[in-house]
Amino acid sequence: ARGDALPRDLEGRRVVVSAGGTRERLDPVRHLGNRSSGKQGYALARVAAQRGAHVTLVSAHTDALPAPAGADLVPVSSAAELGAAVDAAARDADVVVMAAAVADFRPVGEVDHKIKKSDDAPDPVIELARNRDILADLVQHRRDGQIVVGFAAETGDPHGSVLDHARAKLKRKGCDLLVVNAVGDGKAFETEDNTGWLLAADGAEERIPLGAKSELAATVWDAAARLLGVDPA
Ligand code: CTP
Ligand code: CA
Repeated sequence: ARGDALPRDLEGRRVVVSAGGTRERLDPVRHLGNRSSGKQGYALARVAAQRGAHVTLVSAHTDALPAPAGADLVPVSSAAELGAAVDAAARDADVVVMAAAVADFRPVGEVDHKIKKSDDAPDPVIELARNRDILADLVQHRRDGQIVVGFAAETGDPHGSVLDHARAKLKRKGCDLLVVNAVGDGKAFETEDNTGWLLAADGAEERIPLGAKSELAATVWDAAARLLGVDPA
């Protein structure tokens, strides 16, 4: 029933959504990965398409999910591939949403054989190098009026609460909107529901009630549409 009531406020707009979790190759049979399921990114893509947008969905390791109707799917694996695909699609996009969990580090060097254990040699140490920050680079190179949205999965720690970390991250990244999920202890990852906050660069903070990932997606597109200056339908 909700589908019938969806606004068509993104008609004619081009949006890019990244989803899933990148993998950094370690050897021919292993990788460094993360727990992102891609469900939140897919919900964002699906809802945007339902609201009339032309959607490019850059998707890392979301093979278990059915492709959202009406979105152009671009499958990628590593953070470098995801960054290249997002940058290309962002060139003529009105909104870019970085919902993917992007690896912060990649193993240094090319290993073209399986890493073997040995009783005679010391255990291997994996050296890691920083991956570039795709979101921060998008913000730096965005075209006039383009809206850039980031996601942050945070846990509180001795240095601050979930919201403290999120506010600092919004400033550091320079994006227009930051969706914050509290994670850990079975929250958010691989679940159907999501909750958190939507922080805006102008200081506005909106609590996102626990609900389906499609409802969180609708909240994000409402805010993005407002920033685009789209008339509420
Ligand atoms: N992101 C990105 N490129 C990276 C890492 C993250 O574009 N190399 C994006 C994610 O897609 C997300 C946002 O940045 O939209 C925040 O990711 P997060 O991992 O929370 O931020 P980091 O800056 O990597 O900070 P942290 O040290 O907390 O992981
Ligand atoms: Ca990170």
